[in-house]
Amino acid sequence: MTATRACSTTDVSVAEPRKVEIDGIAVSIVRDSAGDIHAIGDRCTHGDVSLSEGFVDGETLECWAHGSAFSLRTGHPLNLPAYEPVPVYPVTIDGDDVLVDVTNPIDVSGLMADGRS
Ligand code: FES
Repeated sequence: MTATRACSTTDVSVAEPRKVEIDGIAVSIVRDSAGDIHAIGDRCTHGDVSLSEGFVDGETLECWAHGSAFSLRTGHPLNLPAYEPVPVYPVTIDGDDVLVDVTNPIDVSGLMADGRS
């Protein structure tokens, strides 16, 4: 695992996901409504827009452009128009640091779109 510091835990709130770039990969760091922090690919699979400019609702991040809501656990869109998932990256919290490993996206193939197994 090659985890890289993405930001501080205090840099990300439910109201404000944060876009970071790690090894040339745009990642959206998102705090869900329960307070857990997630890392998903920042580029919407429907259009070339930044998901970190979207809206958190529970465990989803809604694209501001056309409303597809992506699961923060699986990266799958739960509604159209997007139909392809974004990658989900492992997050480790070390003190106040949010560490993200973009080299090992989480294998979500055994999960349902909403994150249930
Ligand atoms: S660009 Fe994200 S849903 Fe259309």
